Parts: sequence; C-alpha cells; structure tokens
Amino acid sequence: MSPMSADALADLLADARAGVAFTGAGISTESGIPDFRSPDGLWTREDPRDFSFRRYVASPALREQAWRRRHALWQDPPRPNLGHFALADLEAEGHLAGIVTQNVDGLHADAGSRTVVELHGSTRRVTCIGTAPRAGTPQGCGFTASHAWAFARLDAGEADPRCPSCGGIVKTTTVSFGQNLWPGVLEEASALVERADVVLVIGSSLSVEPAASLPRRAHRAGVPLAIVNAEPTPLDDLAEVRVRARAGGVLADVAAALPARREASA
Ligand code: APR
Repeated sequence: MSPMSADALADLLADARAGVAFTGAGISTESGIPDFRSPDGLWTREDPRDFSFRRYVASPALREQAWRRRHALWQDPPRPNLGHFALADLEAEGHLAGIVTQNVDGLHADAGSRTVVELHGSTRRVTCIGTAPRAGTPQGCGFTASHAWAFARLDAGEADPRCPSCGGIVKTTTVSFGQNLWPGVLEEASALVERADVVLVIGSSLSVEPAASLPRRAHRAGVPLAIVNAEPTPLDDLAEVRVRARAGGVLADVAAALPARREASA
C-alpha cells in the first residue's frame, strides 16, 4: 500500500490509542479562514510585522483595525469543517489523546474535541496586557473575558477597548510575533506529544518555532509521523505516511473507515 494514501493513514491510526494531531492553519482553510504561507495566504497580502506584539502595543490605529476585522468576521463566524469533526471523532473513538494546534480560531473545540492545546492562544478570549507592556511579556492586571465582552464595547462605540480594571490595553490571548507563549502551554503540548504513539501533522508548513519542534522531537523519540498537507513540508522525509491532499476529505474518509477496521481486527 502506498505510504501516500488515506488507506495507509487509516492503518496507522487504527492501532493508535494515544495519537496526537498537530494542526496548523491549513485545517481551517476549508472553513473559509485563509492560511499564512500558501500561494494565496495572508502573508502574501499583509505585512507580518503589522501583526507583531510591539506594533499592537505602539499603535492605537492598528488595534482599532484588528478589532474592526475581528468584529466583522464574527458577524458570520467560521464553522468547523469535515477535518475538525473527523479529529473529534478520532478522539471520541479512543485513537487520539488530543490536539496541539497553532490555530487561534477555536474550531477544534467547536467541533467537539475535548483535549486541545492552543499553542498560539485564542481569538475567543481577551486579556489585559497592561498600559506599557515590556516587549514579548504581557504585564496585565489579570482582567480576562470572552471576546463577546470586547464586541459589546465595540458596539458601545469604544474602538480600542481598555481594561475596565486598570485602563490597560486589551488584546485577544493570541500570541503575536515577538510575544512569548503563555506560561505552561508548551509544557502541556510537550507532555501530550511525549506520550503519543503516533503524531498526525495536518495543514502546517512546519515553519514556526517552537511549535514545529514538537513533531520533530516525537520522530526522534521513535514515534511514527503522518503528514496530511496540500504542499511539501520540511518533515516529509521523516513521515511514515504522507498524504498530499486537502485535509477535510482525507480525514473524513479515515474516520469513517476505522470502525470497520476495528471490527475486522477484533
Ligand atoms: N488541506 C491540507 N493542507 C492545507 C490546506 C488544506 N485544505 N490548506 C492549506 N494547507 C497547507 C498549506 O499548503 C500550508 O503548507 O497548510 C499549510 C499552512 O501553512 P501556514 O500557512 O504556514 O500555517 P501554519 O503552519 O499554521 O503557520 C504557523 O505561523 O504566522 C504564524 O502564528 C501563525 O500559527 C501560525 C504559524
């Protein structure tokens, strides 16, 4: 059987009892959210520096633009696609122990996945980062709320919502360039991957650290890798299974095929 097929992926996952899915922006493109580095990705039309922590802190205009965009997107919120639902099924069936995602869109939890480590935070929560945070380490007062709180402030005419406790700048809990990961998140992701019996990389160019080091470390520890991605990735040569396709259909086919394989092997 070709190591490039969904069948090979189903075979690998059928025996998994502690698999970890490592996902990137590519799993959400089929929900209408652009990725970053595809030929039509966000970084082909936006300057990544405008998404840096330093510029967010320094520029009220950039903050107002970011809130306007997020508020507009939430008028018709993106929904999970077949790929998200398939991973939730694989977790419910006992093949996956959880998901480590670089995505901030919250769609894995929306699809029913229960163990989701959001390495780069989430647009669904906001937090105070203080009045003059040092580069990379938000020094907020502790205020945090759902993004609905921010949308209510925007609806009330506050274009750049400020912390109701200390007047500090408010930001989603997403981790921007130049910002440190939130304390404990990388350790939580590492612990999940260290216990994995297979790591399934989906929709990521594996080009951002420290995230991309996780699948690589798993492979060094002898854990089989499977990669489902529309384009080549730097870890393709290390993968036991590589499927060069759009993730939604492949994952849905695999999740649908597994119950029959389990019965056959019982
Ligand atoms: N199915 C499978 N693969 C896809 C699909 C799809 N439907 N759509 C896109 N892809 C692939 C692209 O070919 C690309 O290789 O997903 C990958 C997405 O790569 P990136 O855009 O680099 O996204 P990601 O790897 O998540 O980026 C990591 O970079 O900019 C930062 O913080 C941002 O979390 C992000 C991090």
